[in-house]
Amino acid sequence: MDNPWWHRAVVYQIYPRSFADADGDGMGDLRGIIARLDHIAALGVDVIWLSPICTSPQDDNGYDISDYQDIDPLFGTLADFDELLAAVHDRGMRLVMDLVVNHSSDEHAWFQQSRAALNSPKRDWYWWRPARAGMEPGTPGAEPNNWGSVFGGSAWEYDPATGEYYLHIFSRKQPDLNWENSEVREAVYAMMNWWLDRGVDGFRMDVIDHISKDTSLPDGAVPQGSLYGVGAPHYMNGPRNHEFLHEMHERVFAGREPLLTVAEMPGVTIDEAIRYTDPARREVDMVFQFEHVFVDRGPDPWLLYPLRLPVLKGILGRWQAGLADVGWNSLYWNNHDQPRVVSRYGDDSPEFRVRSAKMLGAILHLHRGTPYVYQGEELGMTNAPFASIADFRDIEALGHFAQATEHEGHAPEDVLTVLRARGRDNARTPMQWDDSPQAGFTSGTPWLAVNPNYTDINAAAAAADPDSVYHFYRKLIALRHEEPVVVYGDFTMLLPDHEQLYAFTRRHDDVELLVIGNFSGERVRADLPSAEAWAGAELVVSNAPAPTDFDLEPWQVVIYRRRA
Ligand code: NOJ
Repeated sequence: MDNPWWHRAVVYQIYPRSFADADGDGMGDLRGIIARLDHIAALGVDVIWLSPICTSPQDDNGYDISDYQDIDPLFGTLADFDELLAAVHDRGMRLVMDLVVNHSSDEHAWFQQSRAALNSPKRDWYWWRPARAGMEPGTPGAEPNNWGSVFGGSAWEYDPATGEYYLHIFSRKQPDLNWENSEVREAVYAMMNWWLDRGVDGFRMDVIDHISKDTSLPDGAVPQGSLYGVGAPHYMNGPRNHEFLHEMHERVFAGREPLLTVAEMPGVTIDEAIRYTDPARREVDMVFQFEHVFVDRGPDPWLLYPLRLPVLKGILGRWQAGLADVGWNSLYWNNHDQPRVVSRYGDDSPEFRVRSAKMLGAILHLHRGTPYVYQGEELGMTNAPFASIADFRDIEALGHFAQATEHEGHAPEDVLTVLRARGRDNARTPMQWDDSPQAGFTSGTPWLAVNPNYTDINAAAAAADPDSVYHFYRKLIALRHEEPVVVYGDFTMLLPDHEQLYAFTRRHDDVELLVIGNFSGERVRADLPSAEAWAGAELVVSNAPAPTDFDLEPWQVVIYRRRA
């Protein structure tokens, strides 16, 4: 079988509400995206993934969909969408939609019908349960089980109209669909086929490892100091997850190649990922795993843990080895749920922001897998200076703040310190286009404040500066397209225990690359086991002057090439 096209591809993620606002209402929209497509095309990427644009009450910024087959008026119309799709295709790129079907909005007609009566034909489309045995429905502790919701509070909402509760792993406006019911699955497949018939090129599947649950919905273990049980072991990677994704493949994807399907799976292990992405099993093309974005987290959710580089290398190295023969990796530092990587694993000070952003980009893009660039990452955009909880908009940040300060006894300032470092709004501040008011994002008032550093960090300045992060990303993407070793080469981690250096080789046929990144603000010399073999090798990429004897500047990255 030929290698699939997406092995060679780079994907760019757009978070529509924060990308570009054409109509001045402070919210990004589809016409704004159309106007800015050349910025993305010039980067050289192959695919655009759009975060949700369907009709939604926007409780979770569109990850709560009330009509899967229409565009939210905030973003535009289906006609705008068709124009966007054509404009993307005209530029030789593909467009992937976000598929949010673990849950719908509570305002979706399916849920409205489901909640209407105990004997509604759609009652079983969602997870309805009576109160815990012997408890008065609607009273504290009477929830059907003890699971907490991801956004704070119980995962159950009491509905007085019928006296039962419905399950919502995320907000109470995101009821979980019941995938056990084949009518639900058929309705989802019909909707997916409708989008593919319209011309879209694939899907990024939101929390798709949550769709098969342990149908007995047992209580979860309660961590110390927490009000709720952890439901994840009972709703992630459940017994029928592979079956459902295989069925989806048969009903929707089969015969439609070339598509790209990427499954977001917060709880996925390497063994499971091999099964999900083994082409012979016909489920999905690749998964988003989360281990490498949890390395600065620990048992206490309200503490910040420093990055331990050997742990990060251990994780990514294991994923490289695990999916070397069967399956495929996706590679990302950033998305709309993660803080900005230059602030997180790099150094966003004026001295080292550009250099460390380039180093992080090079390390990621030289791994084996499909790299994802999140809007603004190519500019080295940073976390935002949130002064108080009033500056946040994200339902997760607001929910956690309320739970931690009102019910768990944490000091507001401590919770804010963690939210400033980790909050999802860091990724969601408007795209910084130029140094005009509101960074050129909107002529109105943006829904979330623009990061004040836009006067220095913006796309116009980056395009004009040959040494910018933006032009460095263009180089990395071009290198992947030109050098088969970047796509297909074997991966070998070097110096796995080194606290500051991230070093590895890639090898394909007779071409070998050596990549070394310095994850520190100090000069560090790499003592490579195979140093002599690299004497005279060509330095293909560096973000600082060429080193002597692998003596790297702070935050320097180098990529050498040689013929073996
Ligand atoms: C994962 C999405 O990336 C996130 O933004 C969202 O809040 C949850 N899934 C729920 O849909």
